[in-house]
Amino acid sequence: MDIARTPSIADGNPQMADAPPVPAQPPLIRRADYKPFPWLVPETRLHFDLGIENTRVVSTLKVVPNPDAAADDVIRLNGDGLQVSSVKLDGLPVKNWEMDGPDLVLPLSAGAHEIEIVNDVSPEKNSQLMGLYASNGMLCTQCEAEGFRRITFFPDRPDILSTYLVKMEGPVAQFPVLLSNGNKVSAGESAGGRHWAEWHDPWPKPSYLFALVAGDLVARTDSFTTMSGREVDLAVWVRAEDLPRTEHAMDSLKKSMKWDEEAFGREYDLDVFNIVAVSDFNMGAMENKGLNVFNTKYVLADPDTATDGDYDAIEGVIGHEYFHNWSGNRVTCRDWFQLSLKEGFTVLRDQLFSQDMQGEAVKRIEDVRVLRAVQFPEDSGPLAHPIRPDSFREISNFYTATVYNKGAEVLRMMRTMAGPVAFRQGTDLYFERHDGEAATCEDFVKAMEDGAGLDLRQFRLWYSQAGTPKVEVSLTHKGDTATLALKQTVPPTPDRIAKKPMPIPLRLALFDRDSGSHDGEQLVILSEAEKTIAFEGFARSPVLSINRGFSAPVSIEREVSTEDLVFLAAHDDDPFARYEAMQDLVVAHLVAVCSDSLTGAAQEAGRKAIAGALRKVLTDDRLDDSMRGELMMLPGQTYLAEQFLVADPGRIHAEREALKVALGVALESELIALHERASTLPATLDHASRGARKVKAQALVYLAAGNPDVAAKMAAAQYDAAQTMTDRQGALMVLTGLPGVARTDRLIDFYNRYRGNELVVDKWFALQASSLHPDAIEHVKALANHPDFNLRNPNRVRSLYMAFAGNPHAFHAASGEGYRMIADLILALDPINPQTAARFVPPLGRWRRIEPQRAALMRAELERIAATDGLSRDTYEQVTRSLG
Ligand code: ARG
Ligand code: ZN
Repeated sequence: MDIARTPSIADGNPQMADAPPVPAQPPLIRRADYKPFPWLVPETRLHFDLGIENTRVVSTLKVVPNPDAAADDVIRLNGDGLQVSSVKLDGLPVKNWEMDGPDLVLPLSAGAHEIEIVNDVSPEKNSQLMGLYASNGMLCTQCEAEGFRRITFFPDRPDILSTYLVKMEGPVAQFPVLLSNGNKVSAGESAGGRHWAEWHDPWPKPSYLFALVAGDLVARTDSFTTMSGREVDLAVWVRAEDLPRTEHAMDSLKKSMKWDEEAFGREYDLDVFNIVAVSDFNMGAMENKGLNVFNTKYVLADPDTATDGDYDAIEGVIGHEYFHNWSGNRVTCRDWFQLSLKEGFTVLRDQLFSQDMQGEAVKRIEDVRVLRAVQFPEDSGPLAHPIRPDSFREISNFYTATVYNKGAEVLRMMRTMAGPVAFRQGTDLYFERHDGEAATCEDFVKAMEDGAGLDLRQFRLWYSQAGTPKVEVSLTHKGDTATLALKQTVPPTPDRIAKKPMPIPLRLALFDRDSGSHDGEQLVILSEAEKTIAFEGFARSPVLSINRGFSAPVSIEREVSTEDLVFLAAHDDDPFARYEAMQDLVVAHLVAVCSDSLTGAAQEAGRKAIAGALRKVLTDDRLDDSMRGELMMLPGQTYLAEQFLVADPGRIHAEREALKVALGVALESELIALHERASTLPATLDHASRGARKVKAQALVYLAAGNPDVAAKMAAAQYDAAQTMTDRQGALMVLTGLPGVARTDRLIDFYNRYRGNELVVDKWFALQASSLHPDAIEHVKALANHPDFNLRNPNRVRSLYMAFAGNPHAFHAASGEGYRMIADLILALDPINPQTAARFVPPLGRWRRIEPQRAALMRAELERIAATDGLSRDTYEQVTRSLG
C-alpha cells in the first residue's frame, strides 16, 4: 500500500515524469547480478520510542568501506514506505541526501563514518505484518526477508552483518515487557509512567534477524545447561490466559537444544533464549537471534484444544527455529537466492529431530506425503523453480515447498550417499569453515565434498534444475538372472527445457516370493540417463522394492502387477516401502478407472485386491496403530491429479469417494471392531494412545462413506465422550460432511465450547471449509460473513480459504464458483496483506493441467486479477508467472 510501485527514473526506467503512466512491472532480480555492498556496517544502535500509533526510530550506523567491494562515493540505504525526519553524518546535520524511490542515498567520502537517521513508523497501520506491527495491543516485528527496511533505513541484505545495541522506551502499563535480541544489559524507569530496556546482541547478524517485542506478556521460564556447562535462561512469552498451554513448547525447546548438541555438535551461544507467541503472523515462526517469534499455532497446546498432530507440529517448528541458530544465524546466507542453504538444511534437521522423537517410519511417510501434495505440483506447474532460484521479483514468493522441502530432500540424498557419520563430518566442516559468514549453497556442497569425501560435481545439478525427475523401472527375469533397467528423465520446466541426468540414489531390495525375505538392501546410484543392472541367483523372478525410504525425490514409473504390490504391502520390511505399495495399489487403480481403461469386471477385481490388502492392514496385530493409520490413508486428491497430464478433478474426486464407499461397505465389521478396540485406550499422550486415536479417525472416514447412518452415530458418540481435541476434531470432521442434526448440534456445541479460543475457532472454520458436505460452498460464503471472520488475521483467512482451496469438490465446482471465490479473496486481501494474498494464487495456477472447461474458468479468474490496477509485487509476480 505504501510501496512505490510505479516505475521512477531512479529504477532505471526511462519514463519521464510527464509521460503517461505505464503498468507497473516490478524489476526482475537475478542471482548472477550479485555484487558485494561497497560499505560494511560493523555496529548498529537503535533507539525506539514505542507507541501503537506512532513509533519513533533513531538509528545510528557505523559504516566503513568494504575492502572486498568496489568503492562507491554514496551509500544506498533501503527503505520501504519510510519518511525521513533528519539525517546526521559524523554528528552534524546534513541535507545532501536524496530519496531514490523508497531508498535513501547519501554521499559518503572514503573512510569510517557514523550515520544517524530519525524516522517514524505507524505499527497500527501496518496490516502487511512485515516490519514493526501491532497485534492485540502488543508490538512485534517480522523482518525476514525485507521487513527491516519498513522500520528504518539500512542496507537490508543478508550479507551485511552488524552487532546491535537496542534501546526501547515506552509506557510501563502498556508495554511491561520489552524484549530484543541477545542479552538484556540494562533497564530502568523514566518519568511519566515510562520505562526502558537496553539489549545487546554480541553476535554480528544480518538485519532480517533483528526483532523487538513490547507488550503485556507473561512467561513460562526454565533453564538449560549446555554441553560445556553454560546456564541458559529459557522463556516462552504469551498472553496471561495462554500460560497453561506452554508446557509442551518449553519441553520441545529443551529437547531441541539437547538434540542439536548430540546429533550435530551444536551448542547454544547466548545467556537467554526467548520465544514469543503472536496471533497475527504471516508464516509459522521466525528464528530472530535469541528472540524467536512464533505464530501462536506453533506454541500453544493442551489436550483439550490441540490435536496430536498439533503437538507434533509444535515440536517440529520449535526445533526448526532453534536449529536455525546455527544453520541460518551463525552461518547465514549471502543473498536470498541461497535461501535453501538455511531452509533446506534446517528442514532436514527438524525432520531428523522429529524422527528421533516420534519414530522414523511414520515421520518419513508424513514428510513424503507433504512433499507429494505440495512440492510435486509446484515442480510440475508454472511456478516451478530450482531449490536455488535464478531470479525473482518478490522474494516472499520463494518461501516455497521447493526451497524448503525439496531442499531438505536434496541434502538427505547427500546423507544417504555418504552415510550419517561422513555426512556429520561434512556439516562439522561447513560450520567450522563458515561460522560468522554469509555463505552460499556452493560453500555447503564444497564442505560436504571435503568433509564427507563425496564427489558432488554432477550432483550440483540438483541445485540448478527444477522439475521432479521421472525414473522408469522395469525388471525382467531369465534363467537365474534378474535384470533391472532404469531410465531417468528430468521434465522441462518454464525456466529451462533441456535437462541433464542427475545422480539419483535408489535404495532397493529384491524379495524372494516364497520366503518373503531378501538378502540385504543395496544402494544404486543412477547417474546416467539409462542403466541396466543384473542380479544373479534368482531361480524365480523376485519382487522389487525400490526407492525404499523414499531415498530420492523422484516419481517412479513401472509396470508392476497387483500381485507384487499386494505382496509388498504385506511383507516389505521397509515401512515406507510398505506404505508405498499400498499407495501404488490405489493410485494404479484410480488412474485406470478415471481413464476409463477398466472393464466392470477388472474394476471389481481391483477393488477386491485393495479391500484385501486393507483388511490385512486393519487386522494385522503386529502393526502398531500409528503405522496402521498411515497405511489406511488413501492417496490425496492433488497427488492423484499429478498422475495425469490433464486431470479432471471432478472425476478423480468422485472415483476416490466411490472407492471409499466400496471399502467402507466391504470392511464395515473390521472397521467397527478396530474403532471399538482403539476406543478402549486411555486419553493420554503416549505412543499407543496416539496411534489409537489416529486409527479411530481413519475408521470413521471409511465408515462415513460406507454406512453414513452408523458412522454418524459412532462419530456423535465419539464427539460427546471426547477427552482430547484429536478425538473431538476427528469425530466432528466426519460429522461435518454428513448432512443431519448430529452435524448441526455438534458444530454449534464446538463453537460455544471454544468461542474465544482463536486457534480452536480456526479449526471450526477449517472443518466446514474442507468438508465433504454438498453445500460446502454455501457454508464458506456464510462463514465469510461470520462476526469472527477477519481478513486481517492470516490464521483466520487460511483456516477458511486455504481449507476451501484444498477441498476438491467445492473449489473445483464445475460452475467455477470456487475459483471466483478464491480470486475475490485475493483481490480483497492484496491491499491489506500482499504476502498472504499471493499464497492463494498457486491453486488457480494449476489450470494448464486441468480439463479444458475448468481450465478456462481458472484462467479467466487469473486474467481478472492480472487486469486489476495497483496489484502488489507479490500477487503480480505469481499471477503473471501463472498465466505466462
Ligand atoms: N525463516 C522463517 C522460517 O523459519 C520463515 C520466515 C519467512 N518470512 C517471510 N516473510 N517470508 O522458516
Ligand atoms: Zn526456516
